[in-house]
Amino acid sequence: MKGIILAGGSGTRMYPITKSISKQLLPVYDKPMIYYPLSTLMLAGIKDILIITNPEFITFFEKLLGDGSHLGISIKYEKQTEPKGIAEAFLIGEHFIGDSEVCLILGDNVFYGEGFTQMLQECTKIKNGAKIFGYYVQNPTSFGVVEFDEHENVISIEEKPEKPKSNYVVPGLYFYDTQVTKIAKKLTYSQRGELEITDINKEYMMRGDLKVELLGRGFAWLDTGTSEGLHEASSFVQTIQKRQGLYISCIEEIAYRMNYICQNQLHELAKGLKNTDYGEYLINLSNERKL
Ligand code: DAU
Repeated sequence: MKGIILAGGSGTRMYPITKSISKQLLPVYDKPMIYYPLSTLMLAGIKDILIITNPEFITFFEKLLGDGSHLGISIKYEKQTEPKGIAEAFLIGEHFIGDSEVCLILGDNVFYGEGFTQMLQECTKIKNGAKIFGYYVQNPTSFGVVEFDEHENVISIEEKPEKPKSNYVVPGLYFYDTQVTKIAKKLTYSQRGELEITDINKEYMMRGDLKVELLGRGFAWLDTGTSEGLHEASSFVQTIQKRQGLYISCIEEIAYRMNYICQNQLHELAKGLKNTDYGEYLINLSNERKL
C-alpha cells in the first residue's frame, strides 16, 4: 500500500500566520505538524509516501524530510497549484499510486491512542472497497458526517450538513482499493468548487463497499486547522509527553521501532539534533536496549 499526505490548501483560516508559510510546517508543540500524519503512515507500515503541497512550499518540505531515506522510507513530492479539493490528491498522485491500494491522510490531522498501530496495520490489508473512521464530536456540522448500521456499513455520508444525522464525523484518514483514481476522475466539482472526498466515499457506499471503523472515547483525534485547535493540540502533546517521557509522533523513533533503521542510524540522526530535548530523547533511545 502507498500513502499520500495532502498538505496544501490556502490556510486562510490561520491568517496572518500562514500568509508566508505552509500550515503543515507550523509547530504542534515541539515538532512540525507534518510529522504527525507522517508518523501515522509509518506506523501503518507504509514506506512509499507522496507529499502533495503548494508549489511555493515544496522546497521547505524537501529541506525538512528529504527523500526519506534517513528514515528508511521513500518520500516524493508533487504540487497542487490550487486547493481544488481533497479528492484531487488521487489525480495528482495517479502516477505515484499506479496499481496499488492507497491510504490518504490530511496533513493537519493528529491521531493518538492505544491500539492505533494495530488498527492501521489491519486497514492496510484492504483489497476491495474503502475504509473510513468515525469519531464522536460535539460539533458535527463542520465535518463529513457518517451514519452507519450495526455492522458498521455506512448508510449515509454528508459533507458539512446543516442537520447532521449523527454525531460521528469522518477524520482525514482514508483507505482505498485500486479503484479510487478511476472514481476520482469521474467526480464533478461541488458547490464550493472542490472535488470532494465525501463524493468518493459516497460512490463506495453506493457500491456497498464502504466500511467505517469507530475510534472510541479514549482516542484523540485533534483538529489543528485553527489557531485555537493548534494551541490545544500543542498542549495535549506537551501534557502526554511530559507525563510519560515518551514522545508522540517522533518519526526517528518510529523508524527505529518499525525496523526501518538500525540503532547506529538512529544514533547518527540523534547527533544532528543534540542541542534539543528532542535530540536528547533520541540519543537516550539509541543507547538503550530495544524493547
Ligand atoms: O478534517 C476532516 C475533514 O476534512 C472531513 O471530515 C471532511 O469530510 C473533509 O471534507 C475535510 O473537511 P474540511 O473542509 O475541514 O477540509 P479543509 O478544506 O480544511 O482541508 C483539509 C486539509 O486538506 C487542509 O489542511 C488543507 C488540505 N487541502 C484542502 C483542500 C481543499 C489541500 O491540501 N488541498 C485542497 O484542495
